Amino acid sequence: MTAEKRLQEIRKEIEVCHACPLAKGRDRSVPGEGPARVDILFIGEAPGFHENRQGKPFVGQAGQFLDELLKAAGVDRSQVFITNVVKCRPPNNRDPLPEELQACQVYLDEQIALLQPKVIVTLGRISMGKFINMGRISSIHGKTHNVNGQKVVTMYHPAAALHQPALRQTLIEDFARLKKFISTDAQAETPAPTPKPVLKTDQEPGPKPSSVPEPQAKPQETPSAEPVKAEPAQPETPKPPEQLSLF
Ligand code: URA
Repeated sequence: MTAEKRLQEIRKEIEVCHACPLAKGRDRSVPGEGPARVDILFIGEAPGFHENRQGKPFVGQAGQFLDELLKAAGVDRSQVFITNVVKCRPPNNRDPLPEELQACQVYLDEQIALLQPKVIVTLGRISMGKFINMGRISSIHGKTHNVNGQKVVTMYHPAAALHQPALRQTLIEDFARLKKFISTDAQAETPAPTPKPVLKTDQEPGPKPSSVPEPQAKPQETPSAEPVKAEPAQPETPKPPEQLSLF
């Protein structure tokens, strides 16, 4: 079976999925969209109000900003695949629960395997937590990581800039490097052959943030690409106001 055909099948499976309680509250699930052959796979967090209505990813305000970012970077939205770690909208846009991430993981893992993107771009800390268990997004945004041979770039969630305008420029600058991320040889960052792969970033971590406290990237309970720990865990920070949860 071709990748395209299997991706269509997965879409249908997600449309009727009842693997977790989020199915009960949805209007439509949001499998993701894009061609079967892509260089870039964007992974967000979960559908919001408009996505739940339309069954398409990133069609609300955050999606409009994502469109702007892609345009500014010279990347055609129709040439990338966009999906989320969780395919149904959590109530009141709360963070997906570990069991919801777990239930949905099988779909995202197969989408990744079929798409074989050159670069996975994570949008926000929930998506980042699927691959990386280190640092804070304020330190590692816009950096490339080699996660078991897959190039992963960690970005702020576009919605973060809607709540904190200073991040707008940061996102624009990180997205401006997208084409560079695709063209660089992914093998250059292959981790050393140790029992646990060593994560490498393309820059040294930046200074500790002084302003907005933010939660540490959380890994899923059983992520498929085992997260790699490159530095000691940061101390737990208090749960920030709801609008910061996407950072
Ligand atoms: N935010 C997300 O993380 N995903 C969407 O699809 C829309 C908003």
